[in-house]
Amino acid sequence: MKTVKIGNTNWQVSNIALGTMRMGNLAVSKVVNALQAAHEVGINFIDSADIYGNDPELGRGSSEIHFGEALAQSGLTRENFFIQSKVGLFANADNQITRYDSSKSHILKAVDGILSRMKVDYLDSLLIHRPDPLMDPSEVAEAFDELQTAGKVRHFGVSNFNPQQIELLQSVTDQRLLIDQLQFGLKHTGMIDFGLHTNMTDDGSVNHDGGLLDYLRLKKMTIQTWSPFQYGTFAGTFINNEQFPKLNAELAKLADKYGVSKNAIAVAWILKHPANMQVLIGTMNPQHIQDSVAGSDITLTNQEWYDLYLAAGNTLP
Ligand SMILES: NC(=O)c1ccc[n+]([C@@H]2O[C@H](COP(=O)([O-])OP(=O)(O)OC[C@H]3O[C@@H](n4cnc5c(N)ncnc54)[C@H](OP(=O)(O)O)[C@@H]3O)[C@@H](O)[C@H]2O)c1
Repeated sequence: MKTVKIGNTNWQVSNIALGTMRMGNLAVSKVVNALQAAHEVGINFIDSADIYGNDPELGRGSSEIHFGEALAQSGLTRENFFIQSKVGLFANADNQITRYDSSKSHILKAVDGILSRMKVDYLDSLLIHRPDPLMDPSEVAEAFDELQTAGKVRHFGVSNFNPQQIELLQSVTDQRLLIDQLQFGLKHTGMIDFGLHTNMTDDGSVNHDGGLLDYLRLKKMTIQTWSPFQYGTFAGTFINNEQFPKLNAELAKLADKYGVSKNAIAVAWILKHPANMQVLIGTMNPQHIQDSVAGSDITLTNQEWYDLYLAAGNTLP
């Protein structure tokens, strides 16, 4: 398993991380299996969020409750993982997002909730989950200070923020923002499409994010890529999905060449990018975890990377 350096720190972590988003409705024994499988293959980074999971009995946050219980039962310890969570989203019982909240009082209260649900004393990192138009940056800065001074959170970052939103927040926070978490994968390539179509007028030329990818590289911030195997936003996985025959044929060809699974090739495609991204996988299936992690050690050729990009339905000018 290769590692990635987080931001400008000396913090080296596995370049594939396990997300807790799908732990919330799973039996704890299955979460134990997932954690053990992840640890065995070298994953030492957990990504969570206070909003993940809405189990009928446990309610909102059930992913973190299940994680805490599973960690205790797994024979592993808190020190086996870098643990990150995110705050700032509210959802209703139907899992529809109803508002964002980046106020100081909410951030502080949310972190206490995370620590108690996950049964840990501190978080290695905390991200603001999504940009909140009502966010007062100075309140976030105060919250970060209090959390760091209290020893509850070590490092900070953001998720789904564009460059100007990062600049605005960074202008008042003493702590350097280390991470931006973004959707990226073979079926979600907006971050690179418009760069390839510079100065053109086709669909691919639309800059959806303010030039985020190059900005984050210039700032030496780590890009964590969420939902690497999904198409749309949680519409399902593209792997072995008959809606995407060309992509699956290309994935199968390269999987055969490298003696790995399609998951590994989809991961290797993300890791080929020189931005040194960290891939957040969400599978709870030990075999799929193992399959995906094999992608950490595969270096695709440049042509293979482009072949996959084209097979995913993209065009080159
Ligand atoms: N910052 C944000 O806004 C944001 C948003 C979403 C997610 N995230 C983070 O990203 C993490 C990963 O997200 P995700 O779970 O959507 O990512 P994902 O790894 O792309 O998707 C996981 C899903 O794909 C399925 N899958 C994977 N390989 C498969 C295969 N070979 N065949 C069939 N199904 C397969 C899994 O099912 P099985 O379990 O059966 O393998 C699971 O349902 C989350 O846990 C969370 O930490 C962040």
